[in-house]
Amino acid sequence: MTFQARHLLGIEHLSQSDIRAVLDLAESYVDLNRRTVKKTDALAGMTQINMFFENSTRTQSSFELAGKRLGADVLNMAMQNSSVKKGETLIDTALTLNAMHPDLLVVRHPNSGAVDLLAQKVECAVLNAGDGRHEHPTQALLDALTIRREKGRIQRLTVAICGDIAHSRVARSNMLLLGKMENRVRLVGPPTLMPPGVDQLGVEVCDDMRTGLQDADVVMMLRLQKERMDGGFIPSEREYFHRYGLDAEKLAFAKPDAIVMHPGPMNRGVEIDGTIADDINRSVIQEQVEMGVAVRMACMDLLARNLRRERGRALSDGDYV
Ligand code: NCD
Repeated sequence: MTFQARHLLGIEHLSQSDIRAVLDLAESYVDLNRRTVKKTDALAGMTQINMFFENSTRTQSSFELAGKRLGADVLNMAMQNSSVKKGETLIDTALTLNAMHPDLLVVRHPNSGAVDLLAQKVECAVLNAGDGRHEHPTQALLDALTIRREKGRIQRLTVAICGDIAHSRVARSNMLLLGKMENRVRLVGPPTLMPPGVDQLGVEVCDDMRTGLQDADVVMMLRLQKERMDGGFIPSEREYFHRYGLDAEKLAFAKPDAIVMHPGPMNRGVEIDGTIADDINRSVIQEQVEMGVAVRMACMDLLARNLRRERGRALSDGDYV
């Protein structure tokens, strides 16, 4: 049986067939989302709470839309004004929310591991919407769906992940997913922006864009995560763009049909040239956003099925009220 998990905390815990199950179900939600009436009742009667301890535009709105289209009651907690600011611990917040009987909790937190910790304290399904520099599983899944639709497969591809790898949960989750699906992964960026122990990750590492992009099917650009930098990781943005920013000249080293991806938000002229980002023949950045809603619907649908099964079992065992 695939996708039996209670939570979606990271790609780390998923098998190849779990990943396929999410992508296949997401395909049907891509179709639904293109219709005029975009509703199902997969989460009818269920409560979804979004807790974002970090600012987010696309991920939070994507989870909110996904929940609403599946028929859930969706609550966005404004964490900026929350009791956390008054000194309440994450665990107390979790226990308070737990007492309101949510079914799905979507959490983004600046600290790596915070979402896993929270998941241990609550009875509902928890989805990690990004924790520190650790994981961002729905981003890797939506990237995989985008790649599969563009390239017709999600195996045996050469994927160059470029830029600020060290601070990026997107890079980590993507590395794990692409590795599990048997792709060739190349990390491209300055040595100062590579994570510690990069040689043990089973990926190729390259500090030059031209060699790094050679024959790539997919070029995935990352934002410079300045909010996670405490010092001089790059000489200047101008110099960074010159050496590592994606422009037409560097992209020419990739395969002629290579696609360009970016999780957003983008710094035009820092990690990517605006013309490349807007080139509808190469850039799939808007498709990534579209796939995001479908993938999140698929993840929440699968977790809700597991919750129902688990509660049904408890009910028939007579120990659930
Ligand atoms: C990413 C994130 O928050 O990790 N953004 C996103 O979810 N779309 C990447 C980033 O912030 O650069």
